[in-house]
Parts: sequence; structure tokens; C-alpha cells
Amino acid sequence: MATILVTGGTGRLGRHVVPLLRTAGHQVRVLTRHTTDGESGVDYRLGDIARDEGVAAAVEGAEIVVHCAASTKFAENRAMVRNLVERASVAQVRHLIGVSVVGADRVPVRSRIDRMTSGYFALMVEVERMIAQAGIPWTTLRATQFFDACLLVVRMMVKLPVIPVASGYRFQPIDAAEVAERLAVLAAGPPVGPAGEVAGPRVYTMKELVRGYLEATHRRRLTLPLRIPGGAARAIRGGAILAPGQAGGRRTWEEFLAETLAAAEAGRSHAL
Ligand SMILES: NC(=O)c1ccc[n+]([C@@H]2O[C@H](COP(=O)([O-])OP(=O)(O)OC[C@H]3O[C@@H](n4cnc5c(N)ncnc54)[C@H](OP(=O)(O)O)[C@@H]3O)[C@@H](O)[C@H]2O)c1
Repeated sequence: MATILVTGGTGRLGRHVVPLLRTAGHQVRVLTRHTTDGESGVDYRLGDIARDEGVAAAVEGAEIVVHCAASTKFAENRAMVRNLVERASVAQVRHLIGVSVVGADRVPVRSRIDRMTSGYFALMVEVERMIAQAGIPWTTLRATQFFDACLLVVRMMVKLPVIPVASGYRFQPIDAAEVAERLAVLAAGPPVGPAGEVAGPRVYTMKELVRGYLEATHRRRLTLPLRIPGGAARAIRGGAILAPGQAGGRRTWEEFLAETLAAAEAGRSHAL
């Protein structure tokens, strides 16, 4: 059994990875910026990876690092990977595991408009490269959009009286818990470099994702198709961020919504 540091162990993905690794018998550390009660038996360390605070101490003695921390600010994501690989290299970490997005290198981000609409894909390519070139044995898994990330976006959109939906955009979202299962298996194995893609069981248009949410919450809204310009958007309309051959996920968007809604009604999570 190994000592494993999970960055972002309090986040959408990481919080599912932590208990899986614990159950598998590993010593699990989580690096977080906040004091937390967290899970029993997990060693929480305070630090800020983007600021390089507490990172050296958190990686010291860790054999494996699963990097699930993420920021909405691109520069912070770069800084996090830069600091983490530097500290992990000094600490002689034997396996660094990263998470990227399906289609990262299939969405061309060339123009200003591409960067505005789809810069995240270029960022992920950059992050993948930084991990691969760090000189640490590595594994990177690409996943599609997590249900809870989709929910966050859809909830913001339905605040508008008319909801703009990117026409032709299709997604194959997945439950973060299922991505975590794959990561836990990868963490238990040897570094494999690119570990392929993991995707949800069904493909949805953006309008279908929005409609599913509206139906689950008994709301009514008009949607307005919006043609997103640029080569990146064209690639997304062409299916660049889908992985139909890798549809390993079991839970559907509808099931996720129904269960999340039921949990909200039972007072176990935020209201939808
Ligand atoms: N979300 C998606 O749909 C999606 C899809 C495909 C791939 N991915 C990839 O999967 C990974 C995880 O995504 P996610 O959505 O689970 O991320 P997330 O929930 O947005 O990540 C938040 C986590 O990152 C930690 N964090 C943020 N800034 C930090 C800092 N400066 N220092 C230390 N910790 C910091 C937070 O910890 P504290 O707040 O506790 O400090 C929190 O645990 C990312 O690499 C992402 O690119 C995500």
C-alpha cells in the first residue's frame, strides 16, 4: 500500500477519489487551502499549490500524486502544475497522475474567438505536456464533462429568461464518481502515460441537457439557438469532444438529475 497525495481532494472529482483510495488501504493525504473536518483517516495538509505554499511538505514521502486540483483561472492551473511537478520531482514521487479533457488535442484553438470560446482545451493540452515532460513517471486520463460541472452551468443559464444554446454542440457527460473509479485503478497500477478517455453512456445536445434540467425541476424556459463562430466551435459541432467508443460510464444525466433533486428535497444537498 502506498502514501498517495490527492490534490483537489475536496473538489468535484477528488472528493470521490479519496474514499476509494482509503478503502483500497492506501495512506491518503489531501492538500487544501482550507481547514476541514473531512474524512476520517485522511491526512489533510494546508497549502496553496498555485502559490507554492505547503506543496513541498505535502509531497514529501508521497509515492504517488493524483492531481485533481483545478481553478477557473488558467494562469493558476499552469502555476499549480508547474509548482507540483517541481516539488514532486525533488521528492522523487514515483507516479504522477493527471486528469485532462476528452478531445483536448482535437479542438483547434488558433484564433482570438477560439481562445474565448474554447481556450480550456488548449490549456489542457499544455497541462498534459507539462506533466509528460516533468521527468516523473506519469499517467494522464482524459474525461468528458462531469455532471456536476454541467449542472453548475445549466443552473446559471436558466436564470436568463431566454436560454442561449450553442447549436450543434454535443456532449457526453459523465459522473465524476465513475471517473474517480478509473483514477483509483490507475493509481494502483504502473505509470502508463496516456491512459485513454472515459466518457458517459449517452450523447446529448446542449439543448437536451438544458431541457433535461428544466423537466427535472418543473421549469419552463424558451431556448435560443446560437451559432458559435470559429474553428474550435466547428470541431466541437463535429464531435471532437465526444468519445463514443469509450462510453464506459453507467449513470445518465437524467438519473443524476433525479437523484440530485431527490437529495436536495431530502435536505442532503443544495436545492436545484
Ligand atoms: N469539471 C469537469 O467537467 C472536467 C471534465 C474533464 C476533466 N476535468 C479535469 O479534472 C480535474 C478536476 O476537475 P474538478 O472539476 O473536479 O475540479 P474542481 O472541483 O473545480 O477543483 C477544485 C479543487 O481544487 C482545489 N484547488 C483549487 N485551487 C487550489 C490551489 N491554489 N491550491 C490547492 N488546491 C486548490 C480545491 O481545493 P480547496 O478549495 O479545498 O483548497 C478543490 O478541491 C481538473 O484537472 C479538470 O481540468 C474536469
